[in-house]
Amino acid sequence: MIWLPIFLVAAVGCVSGQETAQTRVASSLSECYSNPNLLNRNNLPPVTMPVLIDIIRKIEDNTTTLNLREITTLLLHSFRQDGIQYHQPENSVASANVLPFAPTFHSFHRNRLLLTRLLPENRLTLSADVLPPVLKCTLHHMLSTTVDTRVRGDESSCSQLSQYRALRTARSGRSISDDVEIMKPSDLLSANKNGKMRQYDPNNDVEFGNMGVGSMSERQVAESTCPLLGGVVDTAWGAVSAGNVIAGIATGAQPQVVNILQLVRDANLNYRNVQQTVNSLFPATLSGDLAEAVLIQGTERGSTSIVIGTAGGWNSTQARRHFMLQNRINVEMTDPEIRGGIDGFVLGSNVVAQLGVASNMKLSQLLDMYYSPRNGALDPNLRACNRRESLNRFVTNEQLISETNAFAAALDTNMPLRGTIIGGLDQLITSAVTNLRSYTNDVLNDLNCAASLSQSNNFRLKTNLYIVLDSSWQYTTVMPAIAYLVDSIEVGKFGSSITLLSAFDGSIVVNTTYSPADFYAEYNSTTHAAMTAGVNFETSLTNIKLMMQQSLANESLRNYVGGNSSVLLYLINGNLPVTDRVWEQANEINNTIPDLRVLYATTTNQFDALWPFVRDMYRDIFTVSLNSVGTGVDTAMAPILQRIQSVGRRIINPTCGFLFNGGSSGARTFDDYVEPGYVNYYRISPNYFFGNNDNRRIRVSRTSSGIGGLVVCHSRSSEQPRRDNSTVLIEGSENNPITCQTLNSGNVEIGLQYLCDGWDNTNSCPPFYMSVESDTGLTAGGLSSASAACTDPNCRFPYNIRYSIQVDELGCFNGASSITASFLILLSALYLTLYSS
Ligand SMILES: *[C@@H]1O[C@H](CO)[C@@H](O)[C@H](O)[C@H]1NC(C)=O
Ligand SMILES: *[C@@H]1O[C@H](CO)[C@@H](O)[C@H](O)[C@H]1NC(C)=O
Ligand SMILES: *[C@@H]1O[C@H](CO)[C@@H](O)[C@H](O)[C@H]1NC(C)=O
Ligand SMILES: *[C@@H]1O[C@H](CO)[C@@H](O)[C@H](O)[C@H]1NC(C)=O
Ligand SMILES: *[C@@H]1O[C@H](CO)[C@@H](O)[C@H](O)[C@H]1NC(C)=O
Ligand SMILES: *[C@@H]1O[C@H](CO)[C@@H](O)[C@H](O)[C@H]1NC(C)=O
Ligand SMILES: *[C@@H]1O[C@H](CO)[C@@H](O)[C@H](O)[C@H]1NC(C)=O
Ligand SMILES: *[C@@H]1O[C@H](CO)[C@@H](O)[C@H](O)[C@H]1NC(C)=O
Repeated sequence: MIWLPIFLVAAVGCVSGQETAQTRVASSLSECYSNPNLLNRNNLPPVTMPVLIDIIRKIEDNTTTLNLREITTLLLHSFRQDGIQYHQPENSVASANVLPFAPTFHSFHRNRLLLTRLLPENRLTLSADVLPPVLKCTLHHMLSTTVDTRVRGDESSCSQLSQYRALRTARSGRSISDDVEIMKPSDLLSANKNGKMRQYDPNNDVEFGNMGVGSMSERQVAESTCPLLGGVVDTAWGAVSAGNVIAGIATGAQPQVVNILQLVRDANLNYRNVQQTVNSLFPATLSGDLAEAVLIQGTERGSTSIVIGTAGGWNSTQARRHFMLQNRINVEMTDPEIRGGIDGFVLGSNVVAQLGVASNMKLSQLLDMYYSPRNGALDPNLRACNRRESLNRFVTNEQLISETNAFAAALDTNMPLRGTIIGGLDQLITSAVTNLRSYTNDVLNDLNCAASLSQSNNFRLKTNLYIVLDSSWQYTTVMPAIAYLVDSIEVGKFGSSITLLSAFDGSIVVNTTYSPADFYAEYNSTTHAAMTAGVNFETSLTNIKLMMQQSLANESLRNYVGGNSSVLLYLINGNLPVTDRVWEQANEINNTIPDLRVLYATTTNQFDALWPFVRDMYRDIFTVSLNSVGTGVDTAMAPILQRIQSVGRRIINPTCGFLFNGGSSGARTFDDYVEPGYVNYYRISPNYFFGNNDNRRIRVSRTSSGIGGLVVCHSRSSEQPRRDNSTVLIEGSENNPITCQTLNSGNVEIGLQYLCDGWDNTNSCPPFYMSVESDTGLTAGGLSSASAACTDPNCRFPYNIRYSIQVDELGCFNGASSITASFLILLSALYLTLYSS
């Protein structure tokens, strides 16, 4: 890799232009600290990687002319302000003119150097209304590292956090009380007099005037035993400090070698025997946190062994918002900062090469690929699950030591400390680097790649999920279950959508959205409390039926041929009151919206009442048990998720609408995309092929290059037909439930003749199932341009493979064949007379 020495413009003057580098809360972010709704994190979306990616996509979609380098720089300059802490006003009187928050935590200083000296200057601005305040503040909190030491009152529950318990055993036996160290104000005052505190030029760009005083009074108030760490984002591979990740990508994409004299504050360097330059990627990631740990632990605790790694955990299993640290000291290089530092370093070390083969790669794509269970960031080695190996592979201890040495010397002149290191810096840094390595290898125990592979599916959902919600649920009880589904079905621009409806009347609570961030911003406790109380099965189902019919009619107008599946889930706290007329509505849904899968989940077992309303009584009815602390959500919801996952993507004849009175589809096509090694499943309802047509068929053809080949399989009995050893590639065998064909050049053609021979009606004739599978995943090692063939804006990943599905002469067959319908009504009337009331 080539490192471009760039003489930084920042050396003179332009520092003042950067609001987030100043010692006050940036004015663009101040509403995050003044508006009480925004101040309460429980009102903001959960801090997860999919939400971060979603917010970044919103920015990318608004600034289509900016490339990855510009976007990362823009993000850091506009939204990252590290170290903001609350300060109780002296006399506890709040003033309307004062925000009781300021960037006083140590992390501020490193980030200030990053923004002013290590990153290119930012000349871009984002129009203020691209992100609504709630998402702007969420993004700010995701990127900005700080520690909130205020006592909250829930400290006794900290030790209950599951992640804590697992890690605590692996940590050193020192108890928290041994570590507590309350500094007396008098100590600090004398320290100041003795000249231990560094003095700063008051005319300098950053003022430190009240720094010591601020920290002092902060020390006097009680501190939480498990402070909250900010700037943390949840991933399946451990919580990460997203600021470090983005900073690594930004500095890696714009490599600079910076003379450390440009980083020192008074042009006086106290340590001479260090290398004279730093590569900006190091201070932005690993060296930045290592240097902080060395300087703070070295001066405050006189340690000779630097503690690296502080465990912590989320106080909820779903909808994660609060990350609590296990300890209140040695919080300079916590677990999320280590992970973020490594991830940022690894991504930063590779991004130039990746842009070489995928020049249009977006930041959102890079993050999406790295934090995914398979394939990775254009190379399966570049995955979060491979973090430990990556650290060992991409950086040596010698490199880390010399880079950290140089940066620590520079940071020392910028950061007010409670002591002065007068010798032995090298030894402290060696200790920190050694401990980082051993902590990462021996203690950080995140999901590895083998487990990621075995625990993940090799298919992705594109499901329009409608949840019909009973407002008698407590928000805190049902929110984690909804969040579990939103996250698991991958609500997102290239994935699924979510719509929240009311079980009172089927009205819209949260409109259909493909944005998890928007969904979480709209569905808060206020929205939930504003829902009309009560559950009315008949009214809600009737209105939902009308809405779904309307959307089929809309799809007709848009000539929609398929690509998404749709599932309706009733989520009811108690019983769903069944009335006589409900069955008619369910029956109409059956006959007019054949691809909508309706599922019922209730807290009481209602199988006996609900079985006549579903398509598959053994698989579509669930009993769920949820609790107000949100534990066990995955166990409770997993069966429902699996059912949602089993519903294939629809392929339809758009001329039918919901009346099924249209004509033949003629020839129509749609495009779809598959990731290497993944498979997409489709389902065609018998309503589109019940009567025979000799020309009816499906054609699949590949329309992009990319890695590996495609295999097309179909079946009448297997919902998810795959090629495996039991289903050899022999077409047309009657006894073989699954038929597969390799898609070479040209296309795969499947005739759809006489598929319902012997069946009485569309409800009894089985659907036609089909899959399109990519036969190989990405191979580890080399970057290749084949892994970046997809530049189409509809490609979630650069390595997606595009194909098109053409339907020929699909028909329209109404499910309400008169004889069966009236027979069923009769049956149901009988049933209701016998069992209701
Ligand atoms: C970006 O957002 C602004 C403000 O919402 C809007 O006026 C502008 O049209 C958007 N630009 C693009 C390219 O979407
Ligand atoms: C997590 O802790 C925060 C801060 O104390 C609190 O506001 C929130 O309600 C807690 N969440 C859960 C699910 O306990
Ligand atoms: C299907 O999903 C895609 C995104 O996954 C979305 O853009 C499209 O609008 C959806 N179509 C329908 C009819 O819901
Ligand atoms: C939901 O979204 C659709 C399409 O954008 C819009 O026409 C409709 O008015 C919205 N409904 C509500 C209740 O917001
Ligand atoms: C809840 O969401 C609604 C709709 O987005 C919003 O208007 C309201 O301010 C939010 N409430 C809180 C307390 O954040
Ligand atoms: C159907 O389209 C109309 C007009 O575009 C829109 O107002 C309505 O919300 C749509 N309905 C559904 C269910 O998508
Ligand atoms: C809906 O169709 C399924 C068969 O697909 C049938 O078992 C069920 O009884 C039908 N339900 C109603 C309400 O018509
Ligand atoms: C399928 O066949 C391949 C090659 O013949 C073999 O290596 C593999 O173990 C088989 N898999 C199963 C599940 O039998």
